Amino acid sequence: MPVWSYILAVSDSQCKAAVSPYICENMPDSIITATGIHKTYDTGTIKVNALRGVDLTVERGEMVAIMGPSGCGKTTMLNCLSGLDEVDSGQVVIDGVVLHDLPDDERSDYRARRMGFVFQLYNLLPVLSAVENVELPLLVSGTKPAESRKRSMDLLELVGLSDRAQHLPGELSGGQRQRVTIARALVNQPSIVWADEPTGDLDSETASDIMDLMCQLNAENGQSFVLVTHSDDVGRRAHRIVRMRDGEIVDNGNGESP
Ligand SMILES: Nc1ncnc2c1ncn2[C@@H]1O[C@H](COP(=O)(O)OP(=O)(O)O)[C@@H](O)[C@H]1O
Ligand SMILES: [Mg+2]
Repeated sequence: MPVWSYILAVSDSQCKAAVSPYICENMPDSIITATGIHKTYDTGTIKVNALRGVDLTVERGEMVAIMGPSGCGKTTMLNCLSGLDEVDSGQVVIDGVVLHDLPDDERSDYRARRMGFVFQLYNLLPVLSAVENVELPLLVSGTKPAESRKRSMDLLELVGLSDRAQHLPGELSGGQRQRVTIARALVNQPSIVWADEPTGDLDSETASDIMDLMCQLNAENGQSFVLVTHSDDVGRRAHRIVRMRDGEIVDNGNGESP
C-alpha cells in the first residue's frame, strides 16, 4: 500500500470518529443520497426558487453528468449537495453522514477530507506554482510540507504534468491549468469529485483530453464524479445523464421517472 493511502486511511478513521454522532441510522449504500432538497435565494426584492424538491442518488464509483439550460439550478445543486451552501429543507446523506447536521467547522473538515472540487470559483492562485497550488489543500489540512510536496508531485505525474510543476498558472495552457485543478481536487484522495463545467472554457480536443483523464481516474480509483456540463459529448461519456429544468430533476437517467 502506498504511504499516502496509509495516511489517508488513518485520517479517514479519525474523521469517522469525529462525524460518528451524525451517522445516518439506516445507512444507505449509495455515496450520495439527497431527498426533497429545496433552496430559495432571497435577494430582499425577489425570491428565486432555485431547487424545488430535488431527489438524487449517486452510487459509489459512478460518474453522473448534470445537464440542463442555464439558470435551471445545476450550480445550486452542486453547492447544496456538497454542503458548500445551506438548504432550506430536505436531507443530504454523504457516505452515511447527514451533511447539514454537521456543525460548520466539522462540515468543512468533512468536505476537505472527502470531496474534491473543480469549480471556477476555486481557480488556481496565480502567484503560486502548479505544485504549490496542488499541495495547498494538504497544507491547510495539516499534512507535513515534505509529504505534501511528494503527494502533489505524484498527482502532477498522474495528470501528465510533472515537467510543469514549477510553472505559474499564467505560463500554462487552458488544458494544462485544468489538469492542475483536477490534480488539486484529487490530492486528498476524495471519495467524491464535484466539477462545475470542467471543460466549459476548453476547445473540443482539450475538453476530450480532460474527459479522458476524469474517466481514467474514475475507472482506476473508483471515485464518484458529479459533473455539470453543457456538452453532449461530455455527457455521453458519463455513466448517466441527469437532466434538470426550472429547479427540478426531470430525468434521472435511470430510465424511471424521478
Ligand atoms: N446567490 C444568488 N442569489 C440569487 N439568485 C441566485 C443566486 N445564485 C443563483 N441564483 C439564481 O438561481 C437560479 C439557479 O442558478 P444556478 O444554480 O446558478 O443555475 P445553473 O448553474 O443551472 O446555470 C437562477 O435563476 C439564478 O439566477
Ligand atoms: Mg452554473
